[in-house]
Amino acid sequence: MPKAELADETLAAVVAAAGLEVPDSREAWEWRLQCALPWPVYDGYRQRRDECFAAAKDANDVVRVAAAEDQFFAFAGAHPNLCRLFAAGRLGYYAAVLPKVAARLRRAPPARILDLGSFAGVTTLYLGAAFPNSQVVGVERHPGAVAVAEAARARSGLGNVSFACADFTAFDDGAFDAVVSLQAMPAYLIPWLPSERPEDYSRGAHLEAAMGLPAAPVQAVARAVAAVRRLMASGGRAVLHERAAGLPRALLFQHLLARAGLNVTDRCWADWYSVSQRDVVQSFPLIEATAVDGPVPSYEPAMTALYALAGWPDLTGLPVSCGVTFSGFHAHAAFAALPGPRDEMCLRAGLPDGRRLHGYFGVAGGNWAYVYRCDTHDERMMTVGARGITPALFRAGLDELGRLSAAGQLASCDPPLDKFRYHLGKRFKV
Ligand SMILES: C[S@@+](CC[C@H](N)C(=O)[O-])C[C@H]1O[C@@H](n2cnc3c(N)ncnc32)[C@H](O)[C@@H]1O
Repeated sequence: MPKAELADETLAAVVAAAGLEVPDSREAWEWRLQCALPWPVYDGYRQRRDECFAAAKDANDVVRVAAAEDQFFAFAGAHPNLCRLFAAGRLGYYAAVLPKVAARLRRAPPARILDLGSFAGVTTLYLGAAFPNSQVVGVERHPGAVAVAEAARARSGLGNVSFACADFTAFDDGAFDAVVSLQAMPAYLIPWLPSERPEDYSRGAHLEAAMGLPAAPVQAVARAVAAVRRLMASGGRAVLHERAAGLPRALLFQHLLARAGLNVTDRCWADWYSVSQRDVVQSFPLIEATAVDGPVPSYEPAMTALYALAGWPDLTGLPVSCGVTFSGFHAHAAFAALPGPRDEMCLRAGLPDGRRLHGYFGVAGGNWAYVYRCDTHDERMMTVGARGITPALFRAGLDELGRLSAAGQLASCDPPLDKFRYHLGKRFKV
């Protein structure tokens, strides 16, 4: 996120107090990590980050994913410079999401706010500055991160903010009028619900069964959601932005909220891009919920509403010379929003794990070149840009398919990859 874009004054003040340097680009941020950290710390960071990526790819061992992430945050928290640099790498996300969270809380300013999983304290301090008449508590299980957050609080002079070092699933500090949880739950442990076709986002009615799968230790998410409910005052609210990218996980997450007695009153997709993340626009649901007593409500209408929240990306604002990549539901939405007429070719493949994958290569409305990759477990990527990028874009898409094929991942492929490559080249003159 370029410095000029830190337009939110509240966030700018928090960033200054926390001593975060706003990175100009992903490369600049990576370079700063290398230069500013002693080698063992930088190396330790890289190892733990790589383990998170490796664990995430191993669909059969989701427990490893949770453990890898916890080790990553324990290590980052234990090294104050790394902790701050990592928080600085997430500023694109804070700039996009925190104003939306504050806007929701402002509808009825809460007297007491709890921020779950507060890490370096950016969200907690932001809420403290945005709501000077509220008491704001950040709870975080790694003591190093709490110390970094506390130092930033002291520099900020915010007297209405405090931090506690605890596991929030066991935390008990009375009831809060608002509980905020931003990427603090292991929502990636929620299983994907396979769809009938790669392009499809509608799902069957077997949500309970899906959550009970032995390979899906979704109970960890259920415990986190139960903590939200338990820590909320009567009439209180929760604002949640969890890593439930893609509709099937978002649906299951809402289902978990319902089972915990949390009634969703508002939802939207909140998009962000951070230099510390993968090089794509990320989109997770931003959910506001209230506590309900009594029978668990049916969530069919809420799920339909979530699906209807298309949030179609506005393609007209795209930079002309390079492509923009969308993931998850936004990739699906961007594909659906392409203007006609479309001239496209599609490759259909079966993956060894049973997923089916479709790859679309095309030009839309005479102006937009795109590659869309989707599969029946909702891994979705859509890159779209001005027509001039067609050769580079198609080459990159074909290279990716080539790598999958070389790794024996494209068991059945229609048409065969070589044939597809040949005809694509002829048709689009690339
Ligand atoms: C992905 S970071 C998000 C931090 C912050 N909420 C934000 O939006 O930048 C998740 C943080 O939550 C903390 N966390 C996860 N589970 C926790 C738990 N049960 N109790 C306390 N902290 C937890 C982790 O240690 C980590 O610092």
